[in-house]
Formats: sequence, C-alpha cells, structure tokens
Amino acid sequence: MTSSSESAGKPRAFRSSIVHCLHAPGARGADGIPAGVEYFADGVLVVQNGHVLEVGPADALLARLGDLEVLDHRGRLIVPGFVDAHIHSPQVDVIASHGTQLLDWLERYTFPAEQSFADLEHARETSRFFLDELLRNGTTTAAVFGTVHRQSVDALLELAQARRMRLIAGKALMDRNAPAALTDTAESGESETRALIERWQGCDRLSVAITPRFAITSTPAQLESAGRLAREFPEVYIQTHVAENHAEIAAVRELFPDSRSYLDVYDRVGLLRERALYGHCVHLDAVDRRRMADTGAAAVHCPTSNLFLGSGLFDFDAADASDMPVCVGSDVGGGTSYSMLRTLAEAYKIAQLNGRSLGAFDLLYLGTLAGAEALQVADRIGRFIPGAEADFNIVDWSCTPVLLRRSAVAQTIEEKLFALVMLGDDRAISACHVLGENLLFPRTDR
Ligand code: GUN
Ligand code: ZN
Repeated sequence: MTSSSESAGKPRAFRSSIVHCLHAPGARGADGIPAGVEYFADGVLVVQNGHVLEVGPADALLARLGDLEVLDHRGRLIVPGFVDAHIHSPQVDVIASHGTQLLDWLERYTFPAEQSFADLEHARETSRFFLDELLRNGTTTAAVFGTVHRQSVDALLELAQARRMRLIAGKALMDRNAPAALTDTAESGESETRALIERWQGCDRLSVAITPRFAITSTPAQLESAGRLAREFPEVYIQTHVAENHAEIAAVRELFPDSRSYLDVYDRVGLLRERALYGHCVHLDAVDRRRMADTGAAAVHCPTSNLFLGSGLFDFDAADASDMPVCVGSDVGGGTSYSMLRTLAEAYKIAQLNGRSLGAFDLLYLGTLAGAEALQVADRIGRFIPGAEADFNIVDWSCTPVLLRRSAVAQTIEEKLFALVMLGDDRAISACHVLGENLLFPRTDR
C-alpha cells in the first residue's frame, strides 16, 4: 500500500475504464451514453494530495501531463466511492434476524443489541468492524445512526477520522417507548447532541446529524428540541425514519392525532429542510412528497430493508413526479447487505414491481452522485470534478465466474454496468480509495 505521506504532492494517474455522473442522467447521445454521464473506455483519473486533478482519455491526458506515476488498472472500471445515506452502526450483529416486521423486530432484536453500546469497548470494536465493512464494499461516505449513547457516536467518528472517511453520525434521540436503558430525556438528548456538534461538526470530513430515531420513540417535547437544534445549526444534518411500515404509521397516528400525516409530525417542528435525510418514505402521499420537494428534504430509499422487513415498495414514479430528492441506503441491520451494488439491484427489482425500469446509469447515479447531492456535498464527492476528494473504487469484472462470463459478452458499458449491479457485491471491489489512498485491506492499528 502506498502511504499518504509517500504520495504527498506527487500526481498519480490511475489508468482504467472510468464512468461517473456529472449530473442526473438525461437524454441519450449518439454514442448511447446519456447526457451527464462521462465514460472513458481507456481513461485516467489523476490524483494529487488526495484530490482529483483531472479525468479524461488516457492518450490525450498522459501525453499532455508528461512525467507522471501511472498505476495501470486496465481491464477494470473506476467508479466514484458509494454513498450509503442510511445505515445503523450498532446493528452489525442484528443483520439477518428472522421472522418479524419493523416494530417486533425493533423490540426483539434491535433494542437488546443496542443496549450493549453502553460498553465503550463494545462500541469501539463494533464500529471498527462496521467501517471496514463499508470500505470493503466500496462505500466511502455514509450517514449513520448511532445508539442513544453519545459515546457510541464519539467512538465511531474517532475511527472514521483515523480512516479519513467522510461520515455523518448522530446519537439516537429516544425519550419514550423504548427500554429504560435506551432512553434519554429531551434535555439530555439536546445537550449531548450539542456536545457532538461542538466536537465533530466540520472536523476533517465529519459531520453530525440530529437523529430523532422515529416519531414513536420521541415525545413532542423531544421533537421540538430537535427542531430547535435544526434551526440553530443549519449545516448539521437531520436523519430519521418515516412512513416505513403500516403498523408504525398507525402507532404514529395514535400518538400524534393532530398531525395530517406521519411526515407532518416532523414538519410541524421544523425538521423538514435541506440536509434532512428521511429513511424509507414508502407510504408517503402526494402532499408529503410535495413538502419534501419544497423543503429540499431527501428521501432515502432502503430497498433490501423494505423487502426483508416486508415494509412495502418504494414508488419511484411518484417520487420523480414530485421532484423530491431521492438517494439510497442499505439500512443495515434491517437491510441485508452492506453492498451498494446489492442495494441498487434490489432498488431495480422494486421499481420493476411498480412498472418502472431503472437504467444502469440511473443506478450508478443513485449509488453515487444522488447521495452526494442529498448530502449537499456534490462539489466534494460523487463525481470526478477537479478539486473533488479522490474517493473511488476499482471494480474487478472477473471477481466471480458468472460476472466474468456475463460481462465478456456485454456489448456496451451500459450492459456491462447493469450486469455489475445485478451480479456484483463486495467481491467486485478490488480497491477502495479514500482521499486517494487504498484502504481496502483493514488495518488493525487504527
Ligand atoms: N425505525 C425506527 N428505528 C428503526 C431501525 O433501527 N431500523 C429501521 N429499519 N426502521 C426503524
Ligand atoms: Zn433505519
């Protein structure tokens, strides 16, 4: 592995096929590539001091740039690092727990597992595994729910900082309808979130999210306090769950009878704004979607979780019609894979069930730039523009016999990319670069 100090200052060119989105894919050009998508069959990504210097066709760029260190990955594909906009670090040991839907699943598996995070050593050990698993899957940016314990978030952010990752994390706010060991109060939740903001917001590549878990586990007083924090700190994110499951929605209706809808519970306290990430959004109505679009709040579609917990089918057509921003999340441990490739494959299948066929480049966009846009960091990540942070993956088509065989007969990058999304997983990520440094192999010293 090249250490960041060895490579400081010296530009390096990664030579490979390269594909990324400059904006959401538009109309198809004569070459079959949609507007907004850039593809170089033989390209170079030039990186200096952890940032993108240039991207383009290898012959022209190498001739112009002259003497450069060239890392030859021809035969592979470079894509931006994936953005997982909704995941739970304390659910590492909950993934793949059998047989229940959301509310029972929370009580039976999730709440007991989260109680162990009062133990800081457990929080550290789990966070280390969690971050390395993200990287093994090519995820370089994530928005993460911690437990109610502030120190679980400190531990996670310290470890993300050591890996130089871009990470957003928040302490879950929960002051009712949960085991006593997992509850805070409106006051303590606010002061601990404030402490996290003071320590971490804007530190290196780290940010904090105000994280009311969902409306069921917060009193109106706690939601109001979250709304106050959201107004006081506009650069801080908001993350929560909404309209995931029918029993959950019925419980919210009982707890908040004056609200027009589940989303309206959050809207009334000022939690709808840019940098707000709403997990699931499966059962929103048209008025809700309009409010999301008008306020700039983003829907985070969590397909493997929605299938696993039997929550329902996200409606892409309705989302598009409303113009609400949409990105994707794994929602591990309700979700069943850390891989954004697996997540995107299930998003494709869910859309199919609603009569919508997402294209290969739409899926690439959803897993990269759409997340960066929802997080309002598209100037930094999600695409290879000069000055962007050099977070990228090198994909190996030959990682499984099936993918190798299928991609060998593919006629176009579109066909090949689609096969990658349908058939690929962590095995396809042969290198995962964070600020230009390959972190794929977990290091035990940090
Ligand atoms: N709603 C409230 N908490 C959770 C959680 O941990 N996972 C999912 N999928 N939904 C939730
Ligand atoms: Zn979730």
